[in-house]
Amino acid sequence: MAGRWMVLLLLGLAAGGGVIQAHGQVDSLGFISIDCGLHVETGYVENTTKLSYVPDAAFTDTGTNHNISAEYLTPTTDKIWRNVRSFGGGDGTRSCYTLRSLVFGLKYLIRAMFLYANYDGLNRSPTFDVYIGVNYWQTVNISEGDMPVIAEIITVISGDYLEVCLVNTGSGTPFISSLELRPLQNKLYPQADASRALVLAARANAGASTDTFVRYPEDPHDRIWIPLTLDEWSAISTTNKVQNGVTDIFEAPSAVMQTAATPTNSSRPIVVAWDVKPSAKDKPPGFVCMLYMAELQHIPSNAIRQFHVKLNGKLWNQTTLGLRYLETIVLYNPQPDYASQQYIISLEATANSTLPPILNAFEVFSVIPTTGIATVPQEGTN
Ligand SMILES: *[C@@H]1O[C@H](CO)[C@@H](O)[C@H](O)[C@H]1NC(C)=O
Ligand SMILES: *[C@@H]1O[C@H](CO)[C@@H](O)[C@H](O)[C@H]1NC(C)=O
Ligand SMILES: *[C@@H]1O[C@H](CO)[C@@H](O)[C@H](O)[C@H]1NC(C)=O
Ligand SMILES: *[C@@H]1O[C@H](CO)[C@@H](O)[C@H](O)[C@H]1NC(C)=O
Ligand SMILES: *[C@@H]1O[C@H](CO)[C@@H](O)[C@H](O)[C@H]1NC(C)=O
Ligand SMILES: *[C@@H]1O[C@H](CO)[C@@H](O)[C@H](O)[C@H]1NC(C)=O
Repeated sequence: MAGRWMVLLLLGLAAGGGVIQAHGQVDSLGFISIDCGLHVETGYVENTTKLSYVPDAAFTDTGTNHNISAEYLTPTTDKIWRNVRSFGGGDGTRSCYTLRSLVFGLKYLIRAMFLYANYDGLNRSPTFDVYIGVNYWQTVNISEGDMPVIAEIITVISGDYLEVCLVNTGSGTPFISSLELRPLQNKLYPQADASRALVLAARANAGASTDTFVRYPEDPHDRIWIPLTLDEWSAISTTNKVQNGVTDIFEAPSAVMQTAATPTNSSRPIVVAWDVKPSAKDKPPGFVCMLYMAELQHIPSNAIRQFHVKLNGKLWNQTTLGLRYLETIVLYNPQPDYASQQYIISLEATANSTLPPILNAFEVFSVIPTTGIATVPQEGTN
């Protein structure tokens, strides 16, 4: 399921524009935006987000720069994908970026992106691990050369800097296209705290048209919301602003909430399903899921839209959902769910409902334990 969104991501991002001076670490928004392997000394302003991207030389002292292979380069290839930094050395080699000037105890979103595009001419997509500080984050398996892979984590840091490391696991040379850091207020994503972090599995903008990628500035936190439409869904939309309701502690952007999916066959539920692939290293991870919903249509007084949500066939939340016009509500599990290797979330209309359920967006994360994030190993556990 993630794979298809990755392809769309490549098609959706446009090439970069102007040039700015490279500068230190965080910018005026508290963001760090690194174009890894950029061979020039100055950065540039990225076309779609208007964010400033800087070269990576100030962040790592290892690796070599490469351009992607010409066969993958088109006039619309975004700058971010045009070059990579790769890290030679054999099995076990650990190569790190250090992000500084961070705020102790603050929550951050960190996103690494990878587009192989045969940069080394070997036509052999590698698999390697990424770590955040001393903690295993995820395995990056580049299965197709033209498909960008996103690794994203939300974590609270216990230092004023952070290390992101790529580890060679004997399945090819690690490389990276971009590395981004965005601060989050600590009230966002309460499931991430000092002892556990959230690793992104999916972030979907249901019912959005396939070329609509919402990120900064529509989303001030620069999450990337990937459009998702399924054959069995019909899209509905509004141009009116959608407000964050009191339950929306995740601050879903209005641009994402303005589109939604409903089942084309109104007697069917909306279903979101995913499988858990336990890594060789760990037991199956826990999952958290956020469902974002808002009414986008004026409901006549003789009609009612009411539904409940089931997880693997059981009521996930006892609340029967009635939506408010242009106001986001979020349904989520505050604690990770360790129950299953397969998850099926189903939004089902109640017997009284005359209208089918609505889903505007959703996110799925796996939960990983973290210890002493950002600090050097000997600073131990907490
Ligand atoms: C990026 O923006 C510049 C300036 O507006 C424009 O000339 C260029 O064509 C844009 N590139 C793409 C790929 O859209
Ligand atoms: C990579 O591409 C840039 C821009 O096209 C070019 O200036 C640079 O020389 C290339 N670098 C290598 C190592 O080929
Ligand atoms: C990477 O993914 C592909 C396709 O799913 C799989 O065949 C391959 O075994 C994976 N590689 C590693 C090293 O896990
Ligand atoms: C709609 O779904 C219901 C329940 O699954 C099914 O009985 C019905 O045949 C479907 N209608 C159409 C037109 O597919
Ligand atoms: C169910 O959802 C409501 C509304 O979002 C929330 O207040 C409540 O805590 C949830 N219950 C459980 C068990 O998650
Ligand atoms: C459905 O409608 C009946 C009759 O109005 C009402 O008694 C019942 O509580 C409603 N059920 C729900 C889940 O709202």
